[in-house]
Amino acid sequence: MAEIEAASDRNSLERVSNAYLGRKGLLADHYGKLGSLEPSLRPKGGAKLNEIKKLLSELVEIRLSQFAAAAAPGPPFDFTLPGRRSYVGRRHPLLQTVDLIVSIFRGMGFSVASGPDIETSFYNFDALNTPENHPSRDLSDTFYIENGFLLRTHTSPVQIRTMQSQSPPVRIIAPGRCYRSDAPDASHSPVFYQCEGLYVDEHVTFGDLKGVVISFARQLFGSGVDVRFRPHFFPFTEPSAEYDFSCIICGGKGCRVCKNSGWLEISGAGMVDPEVFKAVGYDPEKYTGFAFGMGVDRIAMLRFGIGDIRHIYENDVRFLGQF
Ligand code: PHE
Repeated sequence: MAEIEAASDRNSLERVSNAYLGRKGLLADHYGKLGSLEPSLRPKGGAKLNEIKKLLSELVEIRLSQFAAAAAPGPPFDFTLPGRRSYVGRRHPLLQTVDLIVSIFRGMGFSVASGPDIETSFYNFDALNTPENHPSRDLSDTFYIENGFLLRTHTSPVQIRTMQSQSPPVRIIAPGRCYRSDAPDASHSPVFYQCEGLYVDEHVTFGDLKGVVISFARQLFGSGVDVRFRPHFFPFTEPSAEYDFSCIICGGKGCRVCKNSGWLEISGAGMVDPEVFKAVGYDPEKYTGFAFGMGVDRIAMLRFGIGDIRHIYENDVRFLGQF
């Protein structure tokens, strides 16, 4: 044992190891002499030799690993350190919300459509009946890329792409990223999520729009939720409305989240403007339809009690790990 301890490198260790544990070593010698012992003593002698062999082999192994550790770069391995935990990934709270919205609309017969984040003015504005001088086209609202491309400012261009590629009836929702040149604060982010809805067929009415939105609101936030529509203007719908859900935090009594109004603004909606139907080649005399948008971030923030939209896009694992 002392010789193993004293071995200063692999070679000297091997020499010691061979001298005792090798095929012609001292232990082998002793094993060979077992036969000359009195038969009754042989098992005990064998057991003792096995014990010695095991002990010495272990000491050689330990010495070897010490050489290996000393040769390795960096500090020696500290066996007393606690282990490193591995973490399980989770679905982002925003995409969990997209999944929920999609499943509710699938249940009402809608399918999912998508379009590119990088759009042309045609799809983002022109085909949506947005006049040349409309403020949403402004540089201060829209991120323009070169060659007439831009980052879509809403999911409404997916309406156009879908209607161009299929004939009525159309019943789709289109969740996706949108971009606006907004300064970030607790409720604004230059990148955010919307979910568009579009339903086109013969005889579709504003009543159908209200029914679908109310049903959605109640499946999302519970049967106690009310929806109200306020007159508004969008170039691509006529008539247009903005719609609000009764505050899911205070039940409509007024609180900090609804700014004491009792209502939460969700987005815009309306009946598809005949000019939009003309742009995609649908017959506006034959078909009517409704469209609506919704702010997915807002809905995720309400569901999970997230107080600042920037958390959603900063992807701090301490935040993400909570969902
Ligand atoms: N695209 C509109 C927005 O971003 C919302 C909207 C969608 C309005 C569909 C009407 C119909 O504000």
